[in-house]
Amino acid sequence: MSIPLSIEWTNKKLRIINQQKLPLEVDYLTLETIEDVYDAIVTLKVRGAPAIGITAAYGLARAAQHYETNTLEEFYQHLEKDALYLGESRPTAVNLVWALDRLQRVAKDAATIQEAKELLLEEAIVIHKEDEASCRNIGEFALSLLENQTKVLTICNAGSIATAKYGTALAPFHLGSERGKRFEVFACETRPVFQGSRLTVWELQQSGVDVTLITDSMAAHTIGAKGIEAIIVGADRIVANGDTANKIGTLNLALLAAAYQIPFYVAAPSSTFDLTIENGKEIPIEERPSDEITHVAGKQVAPLNTKVFNPAFDVTPGKYITAIITEKGIIYPEYTKNIPALLGTEKGERS
Ligand code: MRU
Repeated sequence: MSIPLSIEWTNKKLRIINQQKLPLEVDYLTLETIEDVYDAIVTLKVRGAPAIGITAAYGLARAAQHYETNTLEEFYQHLEKDALYLGESRPTAVNLVWALDRLQRVAKDAATIQEAKELLLEEAIVIHKEDEASCRNIGEFALSLLENQTKVLTICNAGSIATAKYGTALAPFHLGSERGKRFEVFACETRPVFQGSRLTVWELQQSGVDVTLITDSMAAHTIGAKGIEAIIVGADRIVANGDTANKIGTLNLALLAAAYQIPFYVAAPSSTFDLTIENGKEIPIEERPSDEITHVAGKQVAPLNTKVFNPAFDVTPGKYITAIITEKGIIYPEYTKNIPALLGTEKGERS
């Protein structure tokens, strides 16, 4: 039994598990060019907010190694252009621009082009390592909340393969499994592209966690029928008032948690907070291609030319969130006051 990892950095090579192919194939891809990285993010070969940020950081740092510029100023111009390019790959997960901004800021400390290149590689590695440590802490805090609860519902994959290791929402299950705490996890399949059935079920099985698959439409019934005691989800962007963008279907679960009066937890590292935005209405919501809905595994399941609406994320208002679990601690309402109290205000400084 082991916790699967999706991003590998060895000898300055970036290798990812192709998440599009899971669980049928565990296929690794080496991302050579910045276009490879862009494509891997857009097509969900790598997905999950922290994993997108880490991959983009390595992608940018690697691309910068090939710049042939005479001045640092020119070097920074190339870096900005490439960061903008990668930053457009997916709009909702703020970890992406957070990582790209962080690399650009660090490069500005360099005295020479060679030093800038080295600083970029070092910083991408730091982002990767920090995320693993953050997720482990999130797991510890989440375990303290879920101490007396064993039946927990989740959606999408906010797991080890969506991060450096452990995951966010799935971190307590991995850690719990190592320590003999038996959770019964219920995973929503997560239409349209099945991150729940393909990825969460696979990942939890790999680490020996008891997991049961349901379709998204079974959530309301299952909470009652199986006695679900808590819901835990990840996040793509959490704004100043606690409003949280996460995989489409998350809002349904938050409303169900309120109706059933069970806790609804969001688990995310501080890199997922965007305090430059006051409320969830301002979060850009990615809309994805219609064939994700009209086709399943390449097979058409709707009439030709069907009109489709395919938002990849929804926004759960902070008022439905019992607590937000971060690597620095657990944040309870009132979020506008308590988020900056725990995280500081520096997260508002994104350029
Ligand atoms: O479209 P995806 O698969 O990238 O969506 C992922 C999610 O919504 C996750 O819950 C979120 O990114 C957190 S991953 C730790």
